[in-house]
Amino acid sequence: MDSILVRGGGKLSGQIPIAGAKNACLALMPATLLSDEPLTLTNAPRLSDIRTMTELLSSLGAEVTSLQEGKVLAMASHGPINTRAEYDIVRKMRASNLVLGPLLAREGHAEVSLPGGCAIGARPMDIHTDGLAKMGAQIDLRDGYLHAKADGGKLRGAVIDFPFASVGATENIMMAATLAKGTTVINNAAREPEIVDLADCLRAMGAQIDGDGTSTLSIQGVDRLHGATHRVVTDRIELGTYMLAPAICGGEVELLGGRIDLLAAFCEKLDAAGISVSETENGLSVTRREDQIRAVDVTTEPFPGFPTDLQAQMMALLCTADGTSVLEEKIFENRFMHAPELIRMGADIEVHGGTATVKGVAKLKGAPVMATDLRASVSLILAGMAAEGETTVSRVYHLDRGYEHVVTKLRGVGADIERIKS
Ligand code: EPZ
Repeated sequence: MDSILVRGGGKLSGQIPIAGAKNACLALMPATLLSDEPLTLTNAPRLSDIRTMTELLSSLGAEVTSLQEGKVLAMASHGPINTRAEYDIVRKMRASNLVLGPLLAREGHAEVSLPGGCAIGARPMDIHTDGLAKMGAQIDLRDGYLHAKADGGKLRGAVIDFPFASVGATENIMMAATLAKGTTVINNAAREPEIVDLADCLRAMGAQIDGDGTSTLSIQGVDRLHGATHRVVTDRIELGTYMLAPAICGGEVELLGGRIDLLAAFCEKLDAAGISVSETENGLSVTRREDQIRAVDVTTEPFPGFPTDLQAQMMALLCTADGTSVLEEKIFENRFMHAPELIRMGADIEVHGGTATVKGVAKLKGAPVMATDLRASVSLILAGMAAEGETTVSRVYHLDRGYEHVVTKLRGVGADIERIKS
């Protein structure tokens, strides 16, 4: 397994291009199942998760052709469609569950393996299945698969109240509702930019959707959807991750394609910590105002709150802040696995349940550390970039799931980082 070697270095300067959003693309790709006409995605990120979704859709009978070195995905689902999503693919990536709604909408039935365990939490699918059941789907869990069947072969519109603003459940139900008979309303829908991006794509395909980006989403079912071409929205999590590089190391970096509206709550916390974010004609520029980062408290929430996917990276920044910061993780039950690794680098962190208390230390020290999940892996790289000495991050396959060309992008602004092939 490859590892990443980082040497703590000086200030950064230069530009980092931000790719299309992994979590938008993973929801957009299953939308090809909703039409027998071609759906083309541009600005797609080059990631292993995208390759896994490609493998899954191909197993269902969709054609997915990667063009322009993976930045364009030309897809078509002429049929026949295989409605069984096999465990050996689904277990690799939870987002595979986003084929459930489209398969039910297109074929009236589906067998989708449950994703199985995940490092950051149990991540059940009850909100997905309860919502689809309200739309007339009979769903049974047997031998690790969800066996779903729409009454009369077609889903019907329903009013669905979500107990929690689940991103994946909002995406599954929204896609299923585009071809249902009648109108579906989701109350307490997720409001993430990736939801709005999916709604934009579905509207381009002929869907009738209102309220995306708000807590009340309304979808008027239509008989069929046609093909479209859609540009994947900028990845706000990659953006926030790289905004923290100059924040942690000092210097000034421009994030090409960055947009403040995608990360307002995160930018507010950066400002409170002493980091300046300004808009440029090509994106966002980030610089540290003072030598010392100020301690800030962070609580993760559904959008528009502070993103859980940036919690680990923010913790890396706060390890050397002037004071004590309290981070509350409200979305997942086990998302502090980066804390013990940061402690190996000299951080002073105490974790109690969903709360981590970070007492700032003067400087971290490089050490061998282990990536445990996608976002934890990059928080260790950020910490290593400002630590004294060398940090080796192992198990970087986690990194390849969500960050394209991370070594190239960080070397491009002066980081002393390399990938060690094993
Ligand atoms: C999406 O996951 C993202 N993944 C996650 O990003 C992100 O952390 C998460 O949303 C929250 O923003 C993709 O978009 C592919 P949820 P998702 O349904 O849809 C519980 C990354 O690093 N829940 O909003 O799975 C669940 O257990 C990944 O890129 C239920 O209880 O998130 C969790 O505690 C990690 N029942 C919380 O809700 C359900 O039916 C949030 O889950 C569904 C969810």
